[in-house]
Amino acid sequence: MKINGTHYRTIWPGADGASVEIIDQTLLPHRFETTLLRTLEDAARAIVTMRVRGAPLIGATAAYGLWLALRDDASDAALEKAAEVLMATRPTAVNLRWAIDDMMGHLRPAAHDARVALAFERAGQICDEDVEICRSIGQHGLPLIEAVAARKTGPVNILTHCNAGWVATVDWGTALAPIYMAHDKGIDVHVWVDETRPRNQGAALTAFELGAHGVPHTIIVDNAGGHLMQRGQVDLCITGTDRTTAAGDVANKIGTYLKALAAHDNSVPFYVALPGTTIDWTMTDGMAIPIEERSADEVTRMSGRTASGEVIDVDIAAPGSPAANPAFDVTPARLVTGLITERGVCEASAEGLAGLYPEHAGK
Ligand code: MRU
Repeated sequence: MKINGTHYRTIWPGADGASVEIIDQTLLPHRFETTLLRTLEDAARAIVTMRVRGAPLIGATAAYGLWLALRDDASDAALEKAAEVLMATRPTAVNLRWAIDDMMGHLRPAAHDARVALAFERAGQICDEDVEICRSIGQHGLPLIEAVAARKTGPVNILTHCNAGWVATVDWGTALAPIYMAHDKGIDVHVWVDETRPRNQGAALTAFELGAHGVPHTIIVDNAGGHLMQRGQVDLCITGTDRTTAAGDVANKIGTYLKALAAHDNSVPFYVALPGTTIDWTMTDGMAIPIEERSADEVTRMSGRTASGEVIDVDIAAPGSPAANPAFDVTPARLVTGLITERGVCEASAEGLAGLYPEHAGK
């Protein structure tokens, strides 16, 4: 996607041949800055602190993290340790495990002196594949928006939660990919952007990237969605996911479940867009998905830009007030109208997913 006319991905090899460059998402939307990751520790820290975030991008960063680790030490012990360090960064997004498993499958059998080049090549392929997968998700989701546009006058109003746009992936995004394609095709789309407390991925990232692409949108507080749905102001919801079970239960940013409940109560279609790499084929019960608990500080403090342009953190609670911060929730498959994947749209069920991914069925 383009920022001020320049095409960016969210992650790419550094020009010095010894680093990986990322867009620092903790600075958005106030500053657009890229930064270099030079070591395994840099990559792990970038994931933990959410300089990179979003399930597919977390996976891509971990893949390059293994390359950075091997540049220091390509031994078996170092490889296993690096995988362990990266795996421990964030627990919910299964793309992390997928990318590490994929890389390890290539790297474990390889000669030590071939590992660095191999890791670099495979990490690059994972990124390229992610771009094509997301493009394909967009193409499969587009007809859902076209169908709404064909039966109404005025904009197609789509509600999304968190950020499942291009900055959450390598490019294009998952939930936002069909929206970008609809907008580029001239369809009148308007996006309701949930601010997404506590880290404000909606207000800070989704609104930023939709704005940069010229897609009409409105930021709303997280609790406004149900009200808008009751008044017929939402035609459909599309969100991303960090882990979807083989039976179609969907883990996504905290608050997604409440939107799905409100959508169900108001007969608003609720779609979830995902790459196959977000499906956890080892799991059928969404309640078994590990939910990341993040720091209470994220709830009691907020960052923002002052009138003078300075970005500062402020306390929004009384000193010492306890806070809890579960970062994800699980939407049961029964509340999901359909899953938009790179292979097509299916029912959120074991049968639906097995139909699109027969190679995993029954395993
Ligand atoms: O905590 P985050 O910002 O990494 O959470 C991201 C989300 O919940 C996204 O919706 C999800 O990763 C899908 S990204 C294409």
